[in-house]
Amino acid sequence: MNPEGSWGEVVIERGALGRIASLLSAHAPAAHYAVVADSNVAPLHGRPVVARLEAAGLRADLVTVAAGEGSKTPAGWAEVVESLARVGLGRDGCVVAAGGGVIGDLAGFAAATYARGISLVQVPTSLLAMVDAALGGKTAIDLAAGKNLAGAFHPPRLVVVDALVLDTLPREELADGLAEAVKHGAVADASYLKWIEGQAPALLDREPAAVDALVAGSIRIKMGIVDRDPWESGERAILNFGHTIAHAMEVATGYAVRHGHAVALGMVAEAAVGEEIGVTRAGTARQIRDALVACGLPVDPTRAPPPAELVRAARTDKKSRAGATRYALLKEAGTAATTAAGDWTHAIPDDVVTAVLGRLRAAPPAPSGV
Ligand SMILES: NC(=O)c1ccc[n+]([C@@H]2O[C@H](COP(=O)([O-])OP(=O)(O)OC[C@H]3O[C@@H](n4cnc5c(N)ncnc54)[C@H](O)[C@@H]3O)[C@@H](O)[C@H]2O)c1
Ligand SMILES: [Zn+2]
Repeated sequence: MNPEGSWGEVVIERGALGRIASLLSAHAPAAHYAVVADSNVAPLHGRPVVARLEAAGLRADLVTVAAGEGSKTPAGWAEVVESLARVGLGRDGCVVAAGGGVIGDLAGFAAATYARGISLVQVPTSLLAMVDAALGGKTAIDLAAGKNLAGAFHPPRLVVVDALVLDTLPREELADGLAEAVKHGAVADASYLKWIEGQAPALLDREPAAVDALVAGSIRIKMGIVDRDPWESGERAILNFGHTIAHAMEVATGYAVRHGHAVALGMVAEAAVGEEIGVTRAGTARQIRDALVACGLPVDPTRAPPPAELVRAARTDKKSRAGATRYALLKEAGTAATTAAGDWTHAIPDDVVTAVLGRLRAAPPAPSGV
């Protein structure tokens, strides 16, 4: 929790960035703000935020890093904390992470570690960050050995979700965000999953009513789970559905596959694994695949690295215990599956996963109605 003992105020409002200075003064007062943004977002939204803070008489600096997952590394972290020191941020300073999930995780981890932890505000600018990454207080960087392997829980004081910034987001990035929203439906709400599938064209066209309903729907589901299990000692693990294989895919391709695309393929694969071992109701992988296809997401497993390579990369997953790779699985669309012992992740032998991945490559699940 943050020093106020909360998981952060979440303001969801089109145009909220227009009053960022008063929002920060009210919810995250600080002597000095460091707005961290990547090279794409800095000119579009980072610099305007700094200008608004300065116009309101607040001290603010912009810290820019290269765009892409390649910055979410020890070197990227060092660059950010050295920049915070260079601009003179003190313990009474605040990091404003303005960007997608990469910046949220990287600047969030910098805030968690700089001067032994200073206050943090998340300003998500990608749909993926709005519906998922900026919420819940997890921050991390990737290590050579695996994704998100160094990190901290560092909840923001404030999350400002202003969907107006999505106007500048490339379309394929929008689809990436839909992958995490499909995950929310898959693990917690079958009617939400169905709704996303039906609304996919409106969502991809950025129709405000559809986008606003999606943002609100996903935030409700994610924060509900986080509130019940903030430190991921149980239920929160279900938000990793699709992610054991997704992270393996990202690592095995050197992050050439984008996170949302990897999550899409990972969910179809993990639903199929669940079906194979009798935990997941038959037909679930196909249902999830249909929703993802509607959202314009890739679900063709032949695009993934070979099964044995993926399974090897999955062994570095943070959820691994006693040497076994663990998977968050579904009972059916909208419901997570616990083990007989009440565990929210399932240990599955590598050979079972390899066989399912191999079969999926040979014959991907046919779309329903075919
Ligand atoms: N901490 C968590 O709970 C959590 C949850 C989900 C994902 N993640 C992490 O999030 C990352 C993926 O996030 P992402 O997909 O947002 O990636 P990203 O941060 O790289 O953003 C995607 C791209 O969109 C650009 N962009 C972002 N907002 C923009 C805007 N408004 N206009 C124009 N361009 C914009 C970025 O510059 C980047 O090129 C992964 O590293 C993943 O591990 C973390
Ligand atoms: Zn994710």
